[in-house]
Amino acid sequence: MDISKDYSLFLEAIAGLMVINAEGKVVYMNEQCADYIKVDKEKVIGQDVKKVFPPTNMLNMLKGQNKYNTNFYFEDGRMSVSTQTQLQKDGEIVGVLEYDMIQDITALDDLLSKYKETLKDEMAYFREQVRNFKSTKYSINNILGTSKKIQELKYQIELAATSNSTVMICGETGVGKELVAHSIHNLSARAFQNFVKVNAAGMAESLIESELFGYVDGAFTGAKKGGKKGKFQLADQGTLFIDEVNQMPLSLQPKLLRALQEGEIAPVGSEEDVEVNARVIVAANQDLREMVREGSFREDLYYRLNVFPIIVPPLRERLEDIPELVEAKIQALNQELGRSVTRVEPDVYAKLREYDWPGNIRELYNRVEAAMNYAQGDVLRKEHFNFRADNSKINLDELNQFDNPIEEIKREAERKLINEVLRQFDNNKTKAAAYLKISRPLLYQKMKRLGLSM
Ligand SMILES: Nc1ncnc2c1ncn2[C@@H]1O[C@H](COP(=O)(O)OP(=O)(O)OP(=O)(O)O)[C@@H](O)[C@H]1O
Ligand SMILES: [Mg+2]
Repeated sequence: MDISKDYSLFLEAIAGLMVINAEGKVVYMNEQCADYIKVDKEKVIGQDVKKVFPPTNMLNMLKGQNKYNTNFYFEDGRMSVSTQTQLQKDGEIVGVLEYDMIQDITALDDLLSKYKETLKDEMAYFREQVRNFKSTKYSINNILGTSKKIQELKYQIELAATSNSTVMICGETGVGKELVAHSIHNLSARAFQNFVKVNAAGMAESLIESELFGYVDGAFTGAKKGGKKGKFQLADQGTLFIDEVNQMPLSLQPKLLRALQEGEIAPVGSEEDVEVNARVIVAANQDLREMVREGSFREDLYYRLNVFPIIVPPLRERLEDIPELVEAKIQALNQELGRSVTRVEPDVYAKLREYDWPGNIRELYNRVEAAMNYAQGDVLRKEHFNFRADNSKINLDELNQFDNPIEEIKREAERKLINEVLRQFDNNKTKAAAYLKISRPLLYQKMKRLGLSM
């Protein structure tokens, strides 16, 4: 059978076929279309397309710039997807032809459910990412406390996050310097880039150098083949946190200074410099100015680091934050240890406020953990904290970390005495100095040296 001229056969095979003229009147509609939209094929010819099929937007095509358009109809609970084509003759728009690509709801369902599956996978992936992001990184919300000192600290963190300057975080051990470094990074525009940490303490000089700046192939015996990237490069576009920068060997300090000043580093054994864009945050748990005076820290590096200093206050200067910290630690430990401690007796807090916390938050957290292990029930009482023993007992492990343990324990005793006397005299320096049998200026000098707040 020859069907080559049987155009109506072809036209009937196209789903939802309809044509309008330049006036928007229907000039052609096939059987299939009339059935689908439930109209009489004969009666619609010459009618306004809007009257025949109200949801249509074919008229837009008459003025539109686009020659083709894909269109979604939601009608009678059915969905269809159509293609519209401008009909042109001698460069003039003379009509629009439309037909359906998808009329069959189940085909669309298949398509949608395929996307739904993909979307579900993607959502699961992103949820996982967000979870990792939250659990592995500290943020400013992990900094607890509502004291003036903490509010000021948070303000400084937010300010530091808006800039690219080098930040120097100073503070005693256990005050939260690392927490502050993380918070700055996570609030900054670099939050989605790497946060790389390096600790200058207790490492051989040559090791610190290759850790920080990397090395090239064959730089030294035992070097990894192909070389190794340094932390500076790993932190490119992100943040490099150099902890205990006071331990940075003098010989490496010029190299660090150059990296900060020029944004260029030289990997060990390399002839060529590498450009890096890492935001640097350092932490120091020793007075760097003092070290500069002693000649164990370079003055030029000190000034380069001291662009944006942040001083994290010791716990003894914000004792009012203790209950919040203790409660947060208890909650965390309840989860971790499967406990249900719900209450702390008020006289515990009174006792905790009397102590001067040389180990700061870390020490407080350790004390709470010890007390929870000691307490059997759900209430923490004074006796669980072992208060009295602490004043006489010396923690040898802790003391051994200092270069000069005897000096340190003298300092500690001095600090305790001065603190206690000041407390008894309501912070009145004249009375305290008289009681201690020293001059007022000497008291000030001692307080400054011992890091006591004025
Ligand atoms: N404001 C705070 N709120 C809640 N937790 C804190 C706060 N400050 C510190 N911590 C917690 O105290 C502990 C010690 O903090 P971190 O390690 O940041 O101290 P650090 O100053 O870096 O100490 P170090 O000088 O010994 O390295 C961590 O468990 C930290 O989460
Ligand atoms: Mg630290």
